[in-house]
Amino acid sequence: MASQAEKPKVYKGLEGIYVTETRLSYIDGLHSKLYYVGYPIEALAKNSTYEEVAFLLYFLRLPRKDELDLFKALMAEARELPEDVLNVVKKMASLKAHPMDIVRTAVSYLAAYDPEVGVNTPESNLRKSLRILSKAPSIIAAMYRFSRNLDYIPPRKDLSHVENFLYMLHGKRPTEFETKVMDVIFILHAEHGMNASAFASLVTISTLSDIYSAVVSGIATLKGPLHGGAAEAAYHQFKEIGSPDKVEEWVQKALASKRRVMGMGHRVYKSYDPRAKFMRELDGEIAKIYGGEPKLLYEIAIKLEEVALKEFAEKGRMDIQPNIDYYTPIAYTALGIPPEYFTTIFTASRIVGWTAKAMEYLKDPRLIRPLDLYVGELDKEYVPIDKRG
Ligand code: SDX
Repeated sequence: MASQAEKPKVYKGLEGIYVTETRLSYIDGLHSKLYYVGYPIEALAKNSTYEEVAFLLYFLRLPRKDELDLFKALMAEARELPEDVLNVVKKMASLKAHPMDIVRTAVSYLAAYDPEVGVNTPESNLRKSLRILSKAPSIIAAMYRFSRNLDYIPPRKDLSHVENFLYMLHGKRPTEFETKVMDVIFILHAEHGMNASAFASLVTISTLSDIYSAVVSGIATLKGPLHGGAAEAAYHQFKEIGSPDKVEEWVQKALASKRRVMGMGHRVYKSYDPRAKFMRELDGEIAKIYGGEPKLLYEIAIKLEEVALKEFAEKGRMDIQPNIDYYTPIAYTALGIPPEYFTTIFTASRIVGWTAKAMEYLKDPRLIRPLDLYVGELDKEYVPIDKRG
């Protein structure tokens, strides 16, 4: 065992450790920048669609019109769910399972219906990734309907990815604005470097396990409130505060009791998360159009950001800023999405990031197997149980 002198450094949480190279995304955490394959996230959120961004992440370039049309058609074709998967979703919804547990189980079950599950070629992995990507919104919409004793609405092939998702959720075609809001949400959540859920799915694929298993690892990891579960927690935080004039008092109490402001802080962004900035502006429009709860949540969020950032700055913590999960609750609420579903939408979008990263890694795979530093005793004598006192 290492002596005190040559004790190796432990990088808890693998902080600051590069595990592979990538061309998928780049986060400039000091300057509020995020790029997907070199394109600034703002340009994609403003001008692109989720299908186009998915093509970009899978092929490392933007598609020609004919390529995008084919890609969209392939995704639309793959939205249906096997009857048995619908039954499992219905059963789990009746048990009031958390939506993230239902998505995790349903994706796992889908593998049994995929004849290529064990085939580990680039072409097969892309086909499987597209199937999972296309079916995830159908799983979420199904559980939403079943948990409200409503009938499942089968997918339509003539609608875009997010338009069809909103149609399957609410039983009517969304407005152009609603479709744009959901497309922005899907684009902003698609890919984000070596985040915890991406790493979990990469560890899985590094053992040459299959792409379904890698996605299930990602879902299981994204659920945590320090990661994808933060948007749901941020919503409840705004509701707990209740109104903008209660923010000051809430912040004093929260920080005094070492509570985290959910939706703020980030391992890589030591500046404002550009995705949060984009959502903040969109939420301003949403608050004006919808009024009601979205407007109240927005006003609380804006006030909480102002007060919390002032407090953090006074403590020298300018690095704690809003992240992607801080402003999405307002948009989700306007789209009729309940808080326990927020992370499932993050999941549906991030499947493209996990699978793109897995397929990129498989081009030059290496088993991911770090070390842990043993600090216990050695060569202890085994004492028979009747002599242990
Ligand atoms: C996502 O990695 C990704 O890219 C993730 C993601 C993606 O797209 O995949 O961006 C999505 O997960 C966004 C993050 C969502 N999580 C939250 O909003 C939960 C609240 N945030 C924190 O728990 C925290 O900021 C983390 C978990 C996000 C990052 O934590 P780190 O890097 O491990 O930092 P830390 O917990 O060690 O905190 C450092 C200090 C601590 O103070 P001290 O103990 O040193 O005195 O900063 C404080 C923390 O207490 N701090 C906060 C805070 N975040 C950090 N204090 C109050 N409120 C916060 N939100």
